[in-house]
Amino acid sequence: APPAIIAPSILSADFANLGADCSRTIAQGADWLHVDIMDGHFVPNITFGPPVVVKIRSHVDIPTQPHGKGTFDCHMMIAEVMPKKWVKEFKKAGCDLYCFHYEAADSTAAESPEETSELRTSPRELIRYIHDNEMLAGIAIKPSTKVDVLYDVLDSPNENERPDMVLVMTVEPGFGGQKFMASELPKVTELRKRYPDLNIEVDGGLGPATIDQAADAGANVIVAGSAVFGAKDPAEVISLLRKAVDQ
Ligand code: DX5
Ligand code: ZN
Repeated sequence: APPAIIAPSILSADFANLGADCSRTIAQGADWLHVDIMDGHFVPNITFGPPVVVKIRSHVDIPTQPHGKGTFDCHMMIAEVMPKKWVKEFKKAGCDLYCFHYEAADSTAAESPEETSELRTSPRELIRYIHDNEMLAGIAIKPSTKVDVLYDVLDSPNENERPDMVLVMTVEPGFGGQKFMASELPKVTELRKRYPDLNIEVDGGLGPATIDQAADAGANVIVAGSAVFGAKDPAEVISLLRKAVDQ
């Protein structure tokens, strides 16, 4: 598996001191910042949008390096992920990795008629569009979604249509501090077997108590919100998570 990338979720940061909290977590050894964007429609919660991302980016003095330190890993829990609408906005705001949900991008996965607008696009097309806008592309699946749906993009003959990262949710998206769902790990095992070099991210309920299972399954990009921001010694938690993956 590729090396560990530790991405604290700023959903558990102090929103009144977001800039300071983000700088601190980078200083404490985090590789990326995991930025949860929620629209109150795709998930039953609302967080923040581009203006806030712009502010964090300008406050947190870190370089934009696709695979390096300080990558803004934007987890887009929004119903409307079609290119015209948000990709360019988030690029402008400072996002480096635009990770959309399969369930929001594939018209065959639409849950209600209003979600089948012509503005929707196929995952392949969306990944191409994200790459054309000079960001890395991620594709996320919820617990209820089968891992098989990802093979179409992962096996695309066109490199530009293949994602740079896959996110396997280990909780129902929407809130921090939920219980880790070990039932999702077979998806990670399966993906790791097929794609030895793929960045596989897990998100939800990760911390010292659950990291070993996730690492054993083959996850290398580790999101942790409450476990990092709620820790007495966040630097120690970050280093523990890293060691579990890299060992
Ligand atoms: C949940 C978010 C997560 C969340 C994780 O929808 O995608 O990134 O912040 O929080 P913890 O690590 O506390 O489960
Ligand atoms: Zn997330």
